[in-house]
Amino acid sequence: LPQAPQQYKQLLMVAGMERYFQIARCFRDEDLRADRQLEFTQVDIEASFITPEDIYNLVEGLLKRVYKESLDVDIPTPFPRMTWREAMDQYGSDKPERRFGMKLTDVSSIFENSGFKVFSSAVSNGGVVKAINAKGFGSASVGQIDALTKTAVEAGAKGLAYIKVREEDWRSPISKFLSDEEKQKLTEALNIETGDLVLFAAGPWEPSCDILGRVRLQCAEFMELLKDNTERDFLWVIEFPLVGWDEEEQRWVAIHHPFTRPVKEDEEKLLKGELSSDLRAQAYDVVLNGTELGGGSLRIHERDLQSAMFKALGVTEEQAREQFGHILDAFSFGAPPHGGLALGLDRLVMMICNAESIREVIAFPKNNRGADLMSDSPAAAEERQLRDIHIQVKLPAKK
Ligand code: AMO
Ligand code: AMP
Repeated sequence: LPQAPQQYKQLLMVAGMERYFQIARCFRDEDLRADRQLEFTQVDIEASFITPEDIYNLVEGLLKRVYKESLDVDIPTPFPRMTWREAMDQYGSDKPERRFGMKLTDVSSIFENSGFKVFSSAVSNGGVVKAINAKGFGSASVGQIDALTKTAVEAGAKGLAYIKVREEDWRSPISKFLSDEEKQKLTEALNIETGDLVLFAAGPWEPSCDILGRVRLQCAEFMELLKDNTERDFLWVIEFPLVGWDEEEQRWVAIHHPFTRPVKEDEEKLLKGELSSDLRAQAYDVVLNGTELGGGSLRIHERDLQSAMFKALGVTEEQAREQFGHILDAFSFGAPPHGGLALGLDRLVMMICNAESIREVIAFPKNNRGADLMSDSPAAAEERQLRDIHIQVKLPAKK
């Protein structure tokens, strides 16, 4: 599991260790991005008999001190908090960048009976129509609109409806479908003025928020809204969903990890196997300027609840026994309630240094294909090495 240190630190809690922290090297097979590496470092924390408040306090104190000593800046604590649902609804992201407005507005009610079927059918199918107003960006070039559309489509959208608001008319592929009343209501809802660019996502709530959230960030980039690096917006995102439906794998997956505790009111549902994306977790992320600095949760410490979680995630009883027997057995001895969090150390340093990429703050980083160019690794293994571990290479026949 990519969460291997997770199980060890929980086992320490069961053993009565009660307080743990470690600067832990982690290895993860993930798609690489500007703030991700295959090998990275966490400040890993776990404690028994705690509440989320204890973790918030501890981490806020830690970050306050780090920022004071490294940059001599005072960061105000406590950090504001936002639920996952609010973050998705307003910013289209679970790590909201809040240094500029451009919030997602729900305009579903305006389009319930619209002549534009894409919008009205989204609403009648139980979904939403969300919009943002990129103020003053009506000057967006064809290339920029194409790039925004590409972002939306890559995020799963069928397209990206937009309106360039001009003095003489609304220039838009959809304006011919919009009634005067709809235009009037939109103008009020989004405070539309000449020179604005309005963008839409219609469909089920969560994907629509996600799509528009990505478009929003790209607009901000084009509009150069994020030039001020001295503004630091720390916040907690709380009340994450416990599980989410993975379309590709056609099964429920843990949003944080399989050891994360549901909220009290949802325990019964998990035990009964009544899964939905409405189940909430006692999980929290600390976010800075649209980057996730750390994440954690309170844990399941009861054997039956942990078994129910594995079952919910499609792990058979046999597999659970084989792969997680150690932790399930440990819980049956009577484990203390516990929880924790891990901060991404390299990522934190990247933010402190205001670096564009995590590679800037790591000695000998891997490139974006996971390779170390200096030592030319990974490289071909020798016949003898492969023989030792019983691997045979069969190359395709040459043409
Ligand atoms: P999570 O997976 O959220 O939680 O990771 C915690 C933090 O580690 C950093 N991080 C990374 N940094 C660089 N490259 C990566 N590939 C990468 N992946 C993660 C991020 C992230 O917020 N065991 C749980 C923690 C817990 O529940 O206590 C965990 O690993 O900053
Ligand atoms: P994420 O991990 O969610 O940031 O997404 C990683 C990559 O998957 C990005 O390149 C996205 O464009 C793409 N992606 C994210 N969500 C979707 C989606 N719902 N449908 C198709 N592609 C997506």
